[in-house]
Amino acid sequence: MALRQLHSMSPCSKYTTQSHSVPLNISTGYKLKNFLEVFCFSHIFTEAIIFYIKMEIESVLITGANRGIGLEIVKQLVNLPKPPRLLFATYRDKSTVQALEEIRDSSKQTQILLIQMDITNSKDIESARKTVEDLVGAKGLDLLINNAGVLKTEGFPEIAGENMLYHFSTNTVGPVMVLKEMFPLLQRSVAHKTTETDVFRTTVLNLSSLGASMGKMRVENPDKWLQGLGYRTSKAALNMAMRMIACTMKDSGVLMVNLCPGWVKTDMGSNAADLEVSESVSAIFKTLSQLNDSHHGAFIDRNGKTIPF
Ligand SMILES: NC(=O)c1ccc[n+]([C@@H]2O[C@H](COP(=O)([O-])OP(=O)(O)OC[C@H]3O[C@@H](n4cnc5c(N)ncnc54)[C@H](OP(=O)(O)O)[C@@H]3O)[C@@H](O)[C@H]2O)c1
Repeated sequence: MALRQLHSMSPCSKYTTQSHSVPLNISTGYKLKNFLEVFCFSHIFTEAIIFYIKMEIESVLITGANRGIGLEIVKQLVNLPKPPRLLFATYRDKSTVQALEEIRDSSKQTQILLIQMDITNSKDIESARKTVEDLVGAKGLDLLINNAGVLKTEGFPEIAGENMLYHFSTNTVGPVMVLKEMFPLLQRSVAHKTTETDVFRTTVLNLSSLGASMGKMRVENPDKWLQGLGYRTSKAALNMAMRMIACTMKDSGVLMVNLCPGWVKTDMGSNAADLEVSESVSAIFKTLSQLNDSHHGAFIDRNGKTIPF
């Protein structure tokens, strides 16, 4: 097959843009959306209802949840109209979990479990899977958010091999290994969703970065774009790894998406960033509620717009 043809293909045949013709749970949301719009509800009202229904998530795991975007994801999840029943929030260092503990202790509807997991440590990942498995049981895991990531800017030629490996180990290998370990639990979630009322699609959301886009990397870009060689290449590798897995697991029913949250005011993004963390995460949730088969294996921004690989 010609390379050009391969590149222009949807990542896998089953997940085409004709989501209406695919007999998956998400189609229920579309039928409902059409129904509401036909019967003269306003677009905004319809979107709000769809968001409410589609965001009924039973269980979710977020890596790197003790600060930044991960912590805000936890905050907003527990404040959903129908929050998850089970939320697994991972951290590395016990001394950094105060904010998470406060949310856990005040959460009324969601059982929040704090799990120590370094995503570069296979024993930690396995032990986390056991904890999750014990609690989710046959219902499986509905949503995995691969959020943990690192950034230490270094450009060429000063970059050290250690810097490259540091980024690849956390930003590429870690999320893939977490997904590998959790995949059977995600499959259980798919298998368990048999009724027409289960609208939220079992999903893997990978936090990527616009900075990983080769299509956007040009000579005329500002010099600062050229810093973060390890970070950008490791996120580009993450995109490819997750796109390949999306193709490999095309019949699994698990939706996999790579998403850039925007430039966000966190320790990583710095105070100079464009977006408050709450703005970024609200947009991510709105997009999450609107994902369909066409997004499988895709690279999108927080508003759902396609980013060139
Ligand atoms: N902020 C932005 O502007 C921006 C832009 C594009 C993409 N992103 C992506 O969004 C995600 C979250 O970014 P952020 O801004 O929230 O970053 P952040 O504030 O620096 O937080 C990073 C989180 O990842 C965790 N982490 C790092 N290495 C880990 C490891 N080996 N195992 C487990 N957890 C680990 C950190 O835990 P510790 O507290 O233990 O270090 C922390 O919880 C990242 O994947 C990032 O690349 C961010």
